[in-house]
Amino acid sequence: MRHYLKETDLSKEETLGLIADARASRGERSQVLAGRYLGLIFSKPSTRTRVSFTVGAYQLGGHALFLNEAELQLGRGETIQDTARVLSGYLDGVVIRTFSQRDVEEFAAAATIPVINGLTDDRHPCQALADIMTISEYHEDLTKVKVVYLGDGNNVAVSLACMCAYVGAHVVLSTPPELTVPQWAIAESRELAAASGGRVDVITEPAEAVREADFLYTDVWFSMGQQSVPEKRERLLPYRIDAPLLAQAGPDCRVMHCLPAHRGEEISAEVMDGPRSIVFQQAENRLHAQKELLKRLMGSAQE
Ligand code: CP
Ligand code: NVA
Repeated sequence: MRHYLKETDLSKEETLGLIADARASRGERSQVLAGRYLGLIFSKPSTRTRVSFTVGAYQLGGHALFLNEAELQLGRGETIQDTARVLSGYLDGVVIRTFSQRDVEEFAAAATIPVINGLTDDRHPCQALADIMTISEYHEDLTKVKVVYLGDGNNVAVSLACMCAYVGAHVVLSTPPELTVPQWAIAESRELAAASGGRVDVITEPAEAVREADFLYTDVWFSMGQQSVPEKRERLLPYRIDAPLLAQAGPDCRVMHCLPAHRGEEISAEVMDGPRSIVFQQAENRLHAQKELLKRLMGSAQE
């Protein structure tokens, strides 16, 4: 029984295999999850994660059950451990979207079914799986790719940095110094890069960061659970992906965003809706990559 709580919970080879299979089996309908039930415990909103896991489970012959945390006894103080033990008796797997990474880890420790991290304040590993799959659709050799993240050093930035470093890519983190990716994540991604031959750079100046980039990536400036603060917006303005910044990147540079996007904030409408944007392909790949994840964690072949 395995969990997917962070990027390295699948080995590098398994990750690359998953991406290859996801690309090859796009649109697959099968019965690999026949008679299996996937629970989705969410305490934050979601469009992509919720719908792609639900549809993905159905396309593989399984069932999905959405469980709003506020409507569970968990929301009234039942412990994570008790909830995990009880739900393990009903379900065959669970996706959790919540605030604290530790809560997901505690759930997984008490559960006897696979647990998947559907986003925490610290990480978004399923997003990173779809991201690296999307990148591989443009550059087969991931060790020759330069990915530049611009904006707030948040959960998506952490998972992107760790995933890119894991597979041997070059990742540049460009954030204002006070909004940088947390030091633990920079250290973790650098350790992964040291093992893979990848590279992690922190470059504050956006124009310098984007030079020769193959991909520019951004995310919202205010993540779920955060207050919108004018000073933070002001600090992040130079990190917006707009046409002038994109013009300073590599000639074939593509633009990525995990979505939802705020046009005119972290990305201009012109870039978001322009020919270099691959954000909708990236969003669709959530479905393809996560189906492969479900097969590996919950499929009948795993017994
Ligand atoms: N990118 C992503 O996780 O989107 P949702 O918040 O809509 O699930
Ligand atoms: N950083 C964003 C990602 C949303 C998919 C958030 O946590 O709200």
